[in-house]
Amino acid sequence: MRLISAAAGVFVLTIGVAVSGLVPVTRAEAHADGVQQDRGGAEARAGQAIFRFDTFGDEQLWTNVLRMHDVVSTVDPATALAVGLKVDVDALPPAIVDALRAGTVDLKNPAVTIELLRLNAVVGVKGSVNQAGQLTRVGITCALCHSSVDNSFAPGIGKRLDGWANTDLNVGAIVALSPALDEATKAEFRSWGPGKYDPRHHAFDGTNIIPLHSPSLPIVIPPIYGLKGVGFETYTADGPISYWNSYVGVGQMGGHGSFYDPRIGLAITQSPDLVTPKLAALLKYQLSLRTPAPPAGSVNEAAAERGKRVFRNEGGCVTCHKAPNFTDVLDGAGGSPLLHVAAEVGTEPVYATRSATRAYRTTPLRALWQHAPYFHDGSARDLRAVVDHYDQQFGLKLTEAQKSDLVEYLKSL
Ligand code: HEC
Ligand code: HEC
Repeated sequence: MRLISAAAGVFVLTIGVAVSGLVPVTRAEAHADGVQQDRGGAEARAGQAIFRFDTFGDEQLWTNVLRMHDVVSTVDPATALAVGLKVDVDALPPAIVDALRAGTVDLKNPAVTIELLRLNAVVGVKGSVNQAGQLTRVGITCALCHSSVDNSFAPGIGKRLDGWANTDLNVGAIVALSPALDEATKAEFRSWGPGKYDPRHHAFDGTNIIPLHSPSLPIVIPPIYGLKGVGFETYTADGPISYWNSYVGVGQMGGHGSFYDPRIGLAITQSPDLVTPKLAALLKYQLSLRTPAPPAGSVNEAAAERGKRVFRNEGGCVTCHKAPNFTDVLDGAGGSPLLHVAAEVGTEPVYATRSATRAYRTTPLRALWQHAPYFHDGSARDLRAVVDHYDQQFGLKLTEAQKSDLVEYLKSL
C-alpha cells in the first residue's frame, strides 16, 4: 500500500452548497427526474465531462496542502494499479497500446505514471506535467471513486464504466502517502482498506483540514448508477444528489466552492464557486447512469424466481425494499425521507449519528453483484452474509434452500 497517484480522496470536507433549502432542492431534482429522457442531451454530456475531468480547483487540497504531486512522481504504474487506480485505455495513443501489449512498457518506472497522467489516462486523477516532464499539479474528480474500467485490456486497464463503485480503490492508502500528514493520521487512513472512505472524518475549507469526527468510520463507496427516482441520497438520506455532490465536491474533494448545512454545522464559503454552477449538469449525467445487468450466465433464473417469492413473502424484504427502486425512502411524511434507526435492522449505529438525519435509508438495491461488501460499513462480506444477518435479526428461520434462492434473486437485481 503505498502509493499512488493522487488520488485519493480526500476526506473531508463538506459541503454546503446548495443549501438553501434542502427540500426545494429535492423537488427540483424530482422534476429533473421526470423530464430526463434525452440520455445523450447536451447537458448530460457536459455533466459527463464534469464527472470525469473536473477537479473544481481541488488542486488546492491535493497539491497545495497534501503535496501529492511530489509523491505521485515516485509511484510506479504497477503500484498505482495495486491500490486500485484504473487506466482508461481509450486515452492511450496506439503506440502505447502496442507497447503495453508487447510487454515493453516498464510498469516499474514512475516516469510511466507521469506519462499516463499527461495523457489524462488515469481515471479520476488530473495531473499537469511541465515541459521537463515533472508533475506540477494534481487533483481528483468524481470518477476516482465512482468509476471503474472493464479490464478489457488488462486488469485495471480498459474502458470506463462510469457510476460503478471502485471497489478496489484504497483511498486511505493513497492519502496516507501525503508528506503533509502526521503518522497517527496516516496509520488511521491506512486501516480503511480498499473500497472504503470516510466522508465525515474531515472537511477542507480551502485553507485548512477541519476535523469533523473521530475516530474515522470508513464506509463502503457505493455505486451511483440507478439513482433515478430514488430521491434521497447517501446511506442516511441527507439530501438529494446535488446536496451530496456539493458536500463532497467542496468539503471532501477540496473543490473551490461553497457549502452550507446547519444540520451538521458545516459552512464553507469560497468565491468564485466552481462547484455549484455545475451541479445541474452533473445531476443530469448521474440520472442517466443505468444499473448494469448481471454478467450473462451468472444467475440461475429458476432459483432467482423462487428467491423473488422469498424476498416478497417469507423474508419480508419487500416491506422496506419496495418497487420500483427497492426502497421505502420516499414514503416519509411531508417531503421528508422515511428512515430506519440502526437497531431496527441491526446495523452499525455510530455512522448515522454523524449525519444530518441520524438514521439509515433503506438502500436501493442495484447491481448487487457488482459491489460487495454490503451495508454501509461493509459488515456483510457477500450476499449470503446479508441473508444470514436478516435471518437472525428478524428471526426468519429460512431454510437452506430459501436462503440460496434468495441470494440468487439478489444477484439478479
Ligand atoms: C473519495 C471517494 C469519493 C469521491 C471522490 C466522490 N465520492 Fe461520492 N461517495 C463516496 C462515499 C464513501 C459515499 C457514501 C456516503 C454516504 O452514503 O454516507 C458516496 C456517495 C455518493 C452518492 C450517493 C449514492 C447513493 O447510494 O445514494 C452520490 C450520488 C455520489 N457519491 C456522487 C459523487 C459525485 C458526483 C462526486 C464528485 C463531485 C463524488 N461522489 C465524489 C465516495 C466518493
Ligand atoms: C425494516 C426495513 C428493512 C427490511 C425488512 C429489510 N431491509 Fe435490507 N436494508 C434496510 C436498510 C435500512 C439498509 C441499510 C443498512 C446499512 O447500510 O447499514 C438495508 C440494506 C440492505 C442491503 C445492502 C445493500 C448495499 O448496497 O449495501 C441488502 C442487500 C438488503 N438490505 C437486502 C435485504 C433483504 C434480502 C431483506 C429480506 C431478508 C431485507 N433487506 C430486509 C432495510 C430493510
